[in-house]
Amino acid sequence: MSVSQSPRWYLRLPVAFAAAWLVWGAPAVCEPAERPAPDLEAGQAAYLQHCARCHGASGKGDGLDAKRFYPRPRDLTMGVYKFRSTVSGTPPTDDDLFRTITQGLPGTNMPDWAHLDEAARWQLVEYLKRLAPLFDEATPQPITVPPGPGRGQADLKRGRAVYERLGCAACHGGAGRANGTSAGGFVDDWGMPIRPANLTQGWSYRGGSDPQAVLTRILSGIDGTGMPSYAEALPPEDAWPLAHYVASLQEPPHWNMIAHPLAVEGALPATLDDPRWDRAERTDVRLRNVVTPAGEWANPPTVKAISFQAVANAEGLAFRLAWDDPTQDGGAPPDGVAVILKPAGSAGDVVTLQVWPYEDAPPLDICYWAADTGKAFEAVAASFEPVRARSTPRTMLESLASYEDGRWRALLRRSLHPATPAGAAAIEPNGFTAVAFAVWDGGNPGARAVSPWTDLALRQEQ
Ligand code: HEC
Ligand code: HEC
Repeated sequence: MSVSQSPRWYLRLPVAFAAAWLVWGAPAVCEPAERPAPDLEAGQAAYLQHCARCHGASGKGDGLDAKRFYPRPRDLTMGVYKFRSTVSGTPPTDDDLFRTITQGLPGTNMPDWAHLDEAARWQLVEYLKRLAPLFDEATPQPITVPPGPGRGQADLKRGRAVYERLGCAACHGGAGRANGTSAGGFVDDWGMPIRPANLTQGWSYRGGSDPQAVLTRILSGIDGTGMPSYAEALPPEDAWPLAHYVASLQEPPHWNMIAHPLAVEGALPATLDDPRWDRAERTDVRLRNVVTPAGEWANPPTVKAISFQAVANAEGLAFRLAWDDPTQDGGAPPDGVAVILKPAGSAGDVVTLQVWPYEDAPPLDICYWAADTGKAFEAVAASFEPVRARSTPRTMLESLASYEDGRWRALLRRSLHPATPAGAAAIEPNGFTAVAFAVWDGGNPGARAVSPWTDLALRQEQ
């Protein structure tokens, strides 16, 4: 976005018209710069209307909803900005601010504001600059982005070598799954625990996931977070290979509202690498950590999504699950996962796992696997605790799991109509079954991550 700030844009209009006439031989629509003259009152009004509920009336990041979010809405009075195209420590450009407002910050609760008219967004930019003294004390110093090859010429092998040489893996992990040896223990400039990004989750890159945006983050650093600027350390000829390599780590998500198990005849898959998994539809589901009873976040979420596939035959259902967890924890508390179903005979809609369990909450059917025993079982319970503690009647399930470089993969098998435990979900072929997931990271205790419900559509015919 580049919009002239000159108030005298109209003087250039006749020239622009003449040029357009010469090139196209027809009148062209010449867009005037839409950036209005600064009007702080208008900026403040828009801020109070749209931003204050999160960022607080005075911009200190203490709005009504603030504590329920991770990351927290920014304290805008400190003048520390993450997503800039400028040298570390210098303010963002007006265009950077405009872009953040227009596009929002994907993977966080900062919404996009493209629906506000452009003039209002520019007034917000002006207002933000009044909230922190940094904008008076320093001027934005744009980073220098070397000219680069197109996507076709990206040298990923070289990019990988640069990724290793510069030590990105120490934080982001060898495969980019946020599991580097120094990934834990960071505290950001706003006093909150913070973790490196999972680079395989392109949808969660806040400043944009294309190579250009990634290179901007690498060169500018992400101020306030411990992610340094590599403007000095990165030779220009290595810049684009690195950016393309990072972008290549992203795994496109499959967000499905309805998931279709692969229908098979004969036995269900008994291994994680059964070739039939390659034919089974994959569904990714975002997870959200439950908040503490005080309505706050205890810890940064470490598990943000789970992906699942299902294979069904006439008798049963096999699930293959995969989720990224930065640490393998087999002790107490252990890593664990649950496939959650609606118990047989339960009426009404499903409850949201964000608030379950609550007083008099209906029980749920929980197919639970944990890393301490490496075994799975099914229980019908009114809360997770007795299940995690194995103090409730349970029926063992066939399961296996493996952990490799920051990623768990697990297989769980269950019959469509189990005789036990009492009240176990009955799954009807050719019907819809609601399924949800909960994940525990033993290394991040108290941070239970839960999903919304997805419909599983069982079909008999393939
Ligand atoms: C629903 C809550 C919410 C609302 C409403 C909201 N924000 Fe945010 N905003 C956030 C969160 C959360 C972050 C922190 C993201 C992060 O740290 O990665 C953020 C960060 C920002 C940043 C920092 C960007 C950077 O480079 O560091 C700016 C600027 C910003 N918001 C502006 C606004 C403006 C302007 C509005 C109103 C038009 C607004 N926000 C409304 C939640 C919100
Ligand atoms: C000292 C730890 C550390 C190192 C080393 C590090 N990063 Fe990061 N990186 C972080 C943290 C922390 C975040 C998350 C920032 C946040 O939550 O806002 C991050 C975020 C990112 C993001 C996501 C940007 C976005 O838009 O959300 C990318 C891409 C990235 N880093 C690439 C790299 C690359 C490439 C390297 C090596 C050249 C690297 N990082 C080195 C800590 C690090």
